[in-house]
Amino acid sequence: MEKVILGVTGGIAAYKSAELARIFVRNGAAVQVVMTPAAAEFVAPLTFQTLTERPAFVEMYAERSGDKIRHIELLDNADVLVIAPATANTIGKMACGFADNLLTTLYLASDCPVVIIPSMNVNMYNHPAVRENIDKLIRRGCFVMDPDQGELACGVYGSGRMPEPLDIYRFTRAALAPGDYRGRKVIVTAGPTREHLDPVRYLSNPSSGLMGYSLARALQERGAEVTLISGPTHLTAPAGVETVAVTTAEEMYEAVLERFDGCSMVFKAAAVSDFRPLETKEHKVKKGEAAYSVELALNRDILYELGQKKGSRILVGFAAETEDVEQNAAGKLQRKNLDLVIVNNLNEPGAGFAVSTNMVSIIDRSGEVEKLPLMDKEQLAHHILDRAVRLL
Ligand code: CTP
Repeated sequence: MEKVILGVTGGIAAYKSAELARIFVRNGAAVQVVMTPAAAEFVAPLTFQTLTERPAFVEMYAERSGDKIRHIELLDNADVLVIAPATANTIGKMACGFADNLLTTLYLASDCPVVIIPSMNVNMYNHPAVRENIDKLIRRGCFVMDPDQGELACGVYGSGRMPEPLDIYRFTRAALAPGDYRGRKVIVTAGPTREHLDPVRYLSNPSSGLMGYSLARALQERGAEVTLISGPTHLTAPAGVETVAVTTAEEMYEAVLERFDGCSMVFKAAAVSDFRPLETKEHKVKKGEAAYSVELALNRDILYELGQKKGSRILVGFAAETEDVEQNAAGKLQRKNLDLVIVNNLNEPGAGFAVSTNMVSIIDRSGEVEKLPLMDKEQLAHHILDRAVRLL
């Protein structure tokens, strides 16, 4: 999504659209906000102007710029028109083809995908007139997101609340997703593993699982059948993704190997513990009886084993390095017989474990290195998929 037109209409939820604009911008989109006059009563255009670094337009009859008429020019190269919140009034006008303000005119002149986020009082949302209008827009190819249930601004409980901005962003991304992984069975591993010394103590690492979960979500958006094999994390698996919870590296090994035959790709984003205590005590070790050294055993390298029996499957590994970053990663690619390795330099600010961003390079079998800038892991997941799809 490089260019997003964000239409904001006059509902109380308009304040949430400022956060939505920010999320689009943070994920690399140029955002042009167009407000109805009623929306400008709720939120000042200056708020959007500051967040998007370009003027938020309200006026229909403002001056022309260059040779083009504003509503046509605004649509140049737009990837999507997102209307959030969309009031019953604007939805009605869109369904009937009215063009009485800049936003409704823009909708009629658009030829890009249109995403509509209805937001209104529950009785309005359930009114047959609104329902018919929404159905009409869906039949016309618009993507309409169901509102959330909850307490509405009018104090009533019900359906009609504008969903959270991050969910709207994801809905939009899914609506535009290319479907290039449709029919593929893909395994994603995520999170850390835990190797217990006793029931309350373990060896682990700071992985949050976010990279793997973002990949699972992105794959699902692009049509794949995803199995997410996850170590312990605080994340919620994306809807529609089969999730297998594991704790130890050995459990992850079993879970992955069991499903490997039926899959065509593996994204091995988990930070698997290389070591485990040679012995796990059955009961909590008391301070007084604690040994001062623990003997470790090496865990099996899951990815290495997959590389041995890879066949025509695509294997994507991850490497987190602190020195000789690209050489070490390229070595792992060779040694584990991978197709791609995604490497991050843990010394870079904003890269690596337990942060929402990452800065990586993607290395392929020919040794070609693609360096990507710092970006959100959700956005990075799609970049990785864009690169991996070329191998299919
Ligand atoms: N990996 C794995 N099984 C292990 C260890 C790692 O499948 N027991 C996978 C990880 O999921 C990751 C890749 O191998 O995709 C690289 O992990 P990393 O820990 O960076 O590499 P190691 O091979 O363990 O090398 P080292 O720790 O020596 O850098």
